[in-house]
Amino acid sequence: MTPGTIQKLPHVTTRRMLDMKQNGEKIAMLTAYDFTMARILDRSGVDAILVGDSASNVFAGHNTTLPITIEEMIYHARAVVRGVQAESSRAMIVVDMPFMSYQLSPEEALRNAGKIMKEHECDALKLEGGRVIAEAVKRITDVGIPVMGHLGLMPQSIYKYGSYKVRAQEDAEARQLIEDAKILEEAGAFAVVLEKIPSALAGEVSRSLTIPTIGIGAGPECDGQVLVVNDMLGLSTEFRPRFVRRYADLSSIIEGAVRQYVDDVRSSSFPSRDESY
Ligand code: KIV
Repeated sequence: MTPGTIQKLPHVTTRRMLDMKQNGEKIAMLTAYDFTMARILDRSGVDAILVGDSASNVFAGHNTTLPITIEEMIYHARAVVRGVQAESSRAMIVVDMPFMSYQLSPEEALRNAGKIMKEHECDALKLEGGRVIAEAVKRITDVGIPVMGHLGLMPQSIYKYGSYKVRAQEDAEARQLIEDAKILEEAGAFAVVLEKIPSALAGEVSRSLTIPTIGIGAGPECDGQVLVVNDMLGLSTEFRPRFVRRYADLSSIIEGAVRQYVDDVRSSSFPSRDESY
């Protein structure tokens, strides 16, 4: 290979994810919303990138995920797809269907799923909910669009819960979650995100399904893990739940660099002769 050329690697598919579960290989997933970050994540070996509707919070500054639109999700997804394609093209790309783009009816869900899939080369869609959206999941997967489910804390339902606390701590909700996971698998989902539920419950769900579970605040027994990239890189400074491990403090690094730049401009030490034409 000539220096500087990027080696293309086998793309992670839904089949590969199932094999990973069967072989006991953990799945590493992170969110991304733009070209530059998607390139870095693909280069760093993540198995899957989620174009999460958390873009509504961390990219657009809304308080919840509810305001983001289909057009905005498509915009982010296009940028992420271009980023992965510019690198090894290995990571699977999953795009969140935004609030109210799939809840009205299975037909509406299918129409919007098709709209999102047609706009770029992503691999799969993610929908929040269990039995209530099972028919929509079936319709979408029946036409060949892979679906990742999402159970436990579902941020699109935050106004119903009234808080972001751990879900399914009581027996009734835990039993319902176990059933919902099974229903999603039967409806054709190829994987399911489990958000902010007790570890033991996530372990039980993971063992009861043939499809992989991807946990966020759901403990080590899930088949994979996902985090919001801004949280794990320390870009979002106020949000510090205990399930987020901070792998870097980019906020401080960026702040230091920008302060230095401002000083350099003010003192005329930037640009130097070498940085000029
Ligand atoms: O939108 C998102 O980032 C998500 C993750 C929290 C799983 O759905």
